[in-house]
This record gives sequence, structure tokens and C-alpha cells, in this order.
Amino acid sequence: MQTDSPFNRLATTPAEAVTLEIDGQPFIAREGDSVAAALLAAGAVPSRTTPVSASPRAPYCMMGVCFECLVEVDGLANVQGCMVQVIEGMKVRCQSGARELTEGDFHEAV
Ligand code: FES
Repeated sequence: MQTDSPFNRLATTPAEAVTLEIDGQPFIAREGDSVAAALLAAGAVPSRTTPVSASPRAPYCMMGVCFECLVEVDGLANVQGCMVQVIEGMKVRCQSGARELTEGDFHEAV
């Protein structure tokens, strides 16, 4: 999934390539990238829609404050993409609306 993105990377030291999946499409990120940075680099925006109005959202603050970067990572929903680094083989899915709670979510919250 190499797409046209409005974001350009700064010239930095080379980094290892990390292959992940974004909504089922392969994408090459850089080691050390956050999931949110990979989403922006891939042009995978909006990366979620809100549960009530379905308005589109994308990573914004990139430092764990705004929660606009919520995505599903390896089957776990509502992960702050800016707070998680990409790893080889990671599967990222954009979220639409409210997440579905699973039995595991209930036990984690209790
Ligand atoms: S981009 Fe703001 S919390 Fe992740």
C-alpha cells in the first residue's frame, strides 16, 4: 500500500524497513515509526470515524493527547497509534464507528 501521501519524510539516517498491513494492504514503514506515522506516510487517512457522527479523523498531536489516532492493532481495538511502534508483520485496521466489545474486553475492565 504505497500511496500518495501529503506528508514527506525529512532526510534522516537510514532505518530498517518494517512491513506491516494497513487494512489488508502491505506497507513498508521504517523501524522506529509509530503506527500513526506509518498511517500518515501511507496516506491512510482518515484512520477512523467517530462513533456518534461518523466524522472522519486522523492522527493529530502525535504525542498521546488527542486520541484521534485510535486504530485496531493486531486485533486489539482503540489503540493509540501514536504511542505504539510498528513491528514486522503487524496488522493495523482503521476503525469505523464504535468498536465492538468482546468477552476479553469485559474481563480486562473488571
Ligand atoms: S495522535 Fe493524538 S493521541 Fe495519538
